[in-house]
Amino acid sequence: MTPVRIGVLGLGTVGGGTVNVLKRNAEEIARRAGRGIVVSRAAARSLDRERICSTEGIALTTDPAEIVRDPDLEVVVELIGGADPARGLVLEAVERGKHVVTANKALIAMHGNAIFEAAHARGVMVAFEAAVAGGIPIIKALREGLAGNRIEWLAGIINGTSNFILTEMRERGAAFDDVLGEAQRLGYAEADPTFDVEGIDAAHKLAILAAIAFGMPLDFGRVYTEGITRVTPEDVGYAEQLGYRIKHLGIARRTETGVEMRVHPTLVPERELIANVNGVMNAVLVKGDAVGRTLYNGPGAGAEPTASAVVADLVDVVRTLTTDPNNRVPHLAFQPDALAPVPVVSIKEAETAFYLKMLASDRPGVLAEIATIFGEAGISIEAVVQPEPPRGAAQAKLVMLTHRVRERQVNEAVARIEALPVIEGSVTCIRMEHLDG
Ligand code: HSE
Repeated sequence: MTPVRIGVLGLGTVGGGTVNVLKRNAEEIARRAGRGIVVSRAAARSLDRERICSTEGIALTTDPAEIVRDPDLEVVVELIGGADPARGLVLEAVERGKHVVTANKALIAMHGNAIFEAAHARGVMVAFEAAVAGGIPIIKALREGLAGNRIEWLAGIINGTSNFILTEMRERGAAFDDVLGEAQRLGYAEADPTFDVEGIDAAHKLAILAAIAFGMPLDFGRVYTEGITRVTPEDVGYAEQLGYRIKHLGIARRTETGVEMRVHPTLVPERELIANVNGVMNAVLVKGDAVGRTLYNGPGAGAEPTASAVVADLVDVVRTLTTDPNNRVPHLAFQPDALAPVPVVSIKEAETAFYLKMLASDRPGVLAEIATIFGEAGISIEAVVQPEPPRGAAQAKLVMLTHRVRERQVNEAVARIEALPVIEGSVTCIRMEHLDG
């Protein structure tokens, strides 16, 4: 059989990795897919840049539209990143009857509903395994392997750059900016690294995971998003003393009133496997009603790990090229007409435990005053630590862990505590999850 000819948009880190994996493993890939897969055209911003892959046998252009419009190509692989111009290119490819494989989480999170609708109408696939958690086949696991379950919640380390930075802060006491620079040099960070450290990249990925887990349309705009820029080495250290690690988690959870979708730094018990996922590695913990908790772990970024997911999608697409479109795995796991919007629980109504740190006057009665406020707010304290202040200091740090509580209650209590004359500055609040239920 003749090989499937594909066009690649973007020959950077992931594009280069994809070309290399397709070439190196060509024989095994063809044995799996039933046909060879050949990159015959590629679009790159500049034609004379140094690359991680050879471009021998690939016709290069700087105009991605040429590839999208090339009638000889059956599949377009979009690796440009960012919502635009990717959206227009993908929609045009779909309109022209081409299948699309993309690693673009921003595109899928923000425009996936329209793209999947267009693809469904045209009978083509838009595959996006590489958009979430790099090389971990989490989309496949949720969409197929766990299809018998009612998914109750999932929690994931889904931004490798943030995990890399938090790991280096804990292990080396490294400064935030130095570590970020290293992540950029290694090709992990987004073009705009604020997407990583402000949690936007993780929010894109969480929106995708939640839609697939719960059978709801993509709803990126309603993901509560907080990054790691305010996490300090001091908090990382106190958390460790209490038996916890601070991880940047994306959490999606069914509740009686709707779905929680939130991305934020989170204390997790250090005995949990996910707490020990370090560096650029990602991990997603999924709780299904039938299977219980399952954990998926692997590299979340980088050239070949991401290429691994892109190529797996290509194999899936090639295997089902001749299949009746209605018999393919639906884009968002549930049949398009069975997707149902679900109310999203506001962060104030979300329920978590908390790590709280404050600076208080070191004199009798202060702790009692604070404890009274928590008691009146209905907040139960699980642990209190007062690290020994420097000799002669008039103030002391207080670190507290709460039991699970509605966030609104904590906000009200913290506002009252911050107003006490014995408290200096603001109270640091970091959410905490035990991930066991
Ligand atoms: N910037 C992303 C990360 C790359 O750090 O995880 C993979 O999506």
